[in-house]
Amino acid sequence: MVYPIVVYGDPILRKRAKELKKDSIDLPAFVQDMYETMYAAHGIGLAAPQIGKSIRVFVVDGTTLEEEKEDMSGFKKAFINPEILDEAGNVWPFEEGCLSIPNIREQVSRPAKVKIRYYDELWNKKEEEYDGIKARIIQHEYDHLDGKLFIDYLSPLKKRMLKGKLTDISKGDVDTEYRISAPLKK
Ligand code: NI
Repeated sequence: MVYPIVVYGDPILRKRAKELKKDSIDLPAFVQDMYETMYAAHGIGLAAPQIGKSIRVFVVDGTTLEEEKEDMSGFKKAFINPEILDEAGNVWPFEEGCLSIPNIREQVSRPAKVKIRYYDELWNKKEEEYDGIKARIIQHEYDHLDGKLFIDYLSPLKKRMLKGKLTDISKGDVDTEYRISAPLKK
């Protein structure tokens, strides 16, 4: 099932999402819905709050990235109750976008490496390290679970410049190829 994507201005995107309790939902089905929704919107990452569910789950699929120099094979995963254990390495800038903030892309600086512990959709506990674009996707999606968005990292000036566009997005006044749920849409 493809959900509409909740966009900027909806308070759910600003809440700290709750830990998922084992067996509280049909997890494989939910993860499947998240993948379907992400693919329908041509995203490479999607967090549960973006489909209106305030739980600590996100999915990624970097294997669809074209012209990527990094090896993305196998980087299709669901992260349940993730915990970032460590971030390290040089802080580097990379242009980020977000399905909840359509048509805006900005440079964001984050540490290059991340160590993460999580459960997969079959509730196997994992601990892994990532760097480069993979780390970046994980950091961005993880932020969603803590109510953070990539625009929070921008300078006050940049934020002021984006204000009008963000207001338009929250009113649903934005072109997307996917279905959105805008909080201020009349
Ligand atoms: Ni995002």
